Amino acid sequence: MTAETYQELHKLNAENVLHPMSMPAFDNENPMFMKGGKGVHVWDSDDNQYLDGLGGLWCVNVGYGRKEVLDAMRDQMDQLAYYNTFGDMCNLPSTRLAAKIIEMLRPEGMSKVFFTSGGSDSIDSSIKLARQFWRLNGKPTKTSLISLKDGYHGVHMGGISLIGIPAFRDPYGPVLPGCYQIDNPFLYRNPWTEDPEELGQICADLLDRKIAYLGADNVAAFIAEPIQGAGGVIVPPENYWPLIRKVCDKHDVLLIADEVVTGFGRSGSMFGVRGWGVAADIMCFAKGISSGYVPLGATVINERIADSFAKPSPNGMIAHGLTYSGHPLACAAGIAALDVVVKENLHINAGEVGAYCKEKFMPLVDRHEHLGEVRGKGLMLALDLVTDKATRTPVNPAEGYSDMLSAHCQQNGVLIRSVGPKIILSPPLTFTNENVNQLVEAIDQSLTDTKYPT
Ligand SMILES: Cc1ncc(COP(=O)(O)O)c(C=O)c1O
Repeated sequence: MTAETYQELHKLNAENVLHPMSMPAFDNENPMFMKGGKGVHVWDSDDNQYLDGLGGLWCVNVGYGRKEVLDAMRDQMDQLAYYNTFGDMCNLPSTRLAAKIIEMLRPEGMSKVFFTSGGSDSIDSSIKLARQFWRLNGKPTKTSLISLKDGYHGVHMGGISLIGIPAFRDPYGPVLPGCYQIDNPFLYRNPWTEDPEELGQICADLLDRKIAYLGADNVAAFIAEPIQGAGGVIVPPENYWPLIRKVCDKHDVLLIADEVVTGFGRSGSMFGVRGWGVAADIMCFAKGISSGYVPLGATVINERIADSFAKPSPNGMIAHGLTYSGHPLACAAGIAALDVVVKENLHINAGEVGAYCKEKFMPLVDRHEHLGEVRGKGLMLALDLVTDKATRTPVNPAEGYSDMLSAHCQQNGVLIRSVGPKIILSPPLTFTNENVNQLVEAIDQSLTDTKYPT
């Protein structure tokens, strides 16, 4: 396609597309047209090549243009591109993918997969299944939900009722009643302690007290990301998740792990909560499940919950389903993508390359005035930008510093993501140490060259 045609497309885009997570008044001026991708690189309409530090959007875990995934999709399209899975309908890829996921989650005792079209669907499905589970068990008052400050759980009405980032909730209220947020275990910024163990205990106690205050008979579930992603890649202390599991057990409250980002390898273990030896009752997936090749998500329930639905009951109908639940094409892509993850041990690569990446970033914290902290686990990392290292005051996103850093990197062939006062990194899990060197060098240079706005 010629440059001229792309100019026309820019105009068409500005005239017709309402972009997600955008400021329509500004963001359409100079869109970046993505044209191609291979491995860990993408190309724009001017054939500029970029190292993709975003993995699309935390999702292209196996990298771009994988033949295994594309062949599986082509084969499935030739067979059957779509049929529904409502009631007793089924198809080959969704059946095989469900069996594969349950096999992978054997250590966690997971039992049944409910397919969705993405992460927000998976979250709202988990809320509905959790509430219905308690109804089926004669406890219809157990409906309240507790989540964490800085948590991100998608954009449907259930998800934004749980979200702990007000910017995503405030324009769309009122949200669901009965949803409560408690403080998250954020070592870099909390009012209590610098000691991780102590912080883990304090934050687990907060959940214990919140459930006691609301009354365990009123609480359906606690939901959290194993590592909070969009909130700033907040890695909890080692003791946090095991303690949270204990608190949930003590009060018979379900534990929902939002594994939309962490699921299938990103955090360095195959599943986020597995990294802490914890089994949730419900797990929500999307993104890495199909490596972003086709929209797909899943809500997975453990044996206890599945057993309740298996018993004949007048209230046992799952009155919840999506046209694209178990979409054959998406599930065929999912099987092939997960095969690559397993065969190439990408979760292990994520752990090793992620550790190397963190190590390479550490000297930058000493050298750059506004880089407060680099944190993360596996191939999910965040750079925390501050105005003052002593007070750890975040930069004001409205001043555009993180956007300037990301634009600078883009000019140097590296894509990173500015989210408020942070830079977030979530590259494909096929990333190598060499890719890390290029990424860190570009960010180092951008921190040197970009003047802090005054
Ligand atoms: C932790 C988490 N949960 C849920 C979602 C929502 O997923 P989706 O955008 O596929 O609806 C996201 C998206 O980034 C996420 O990071």
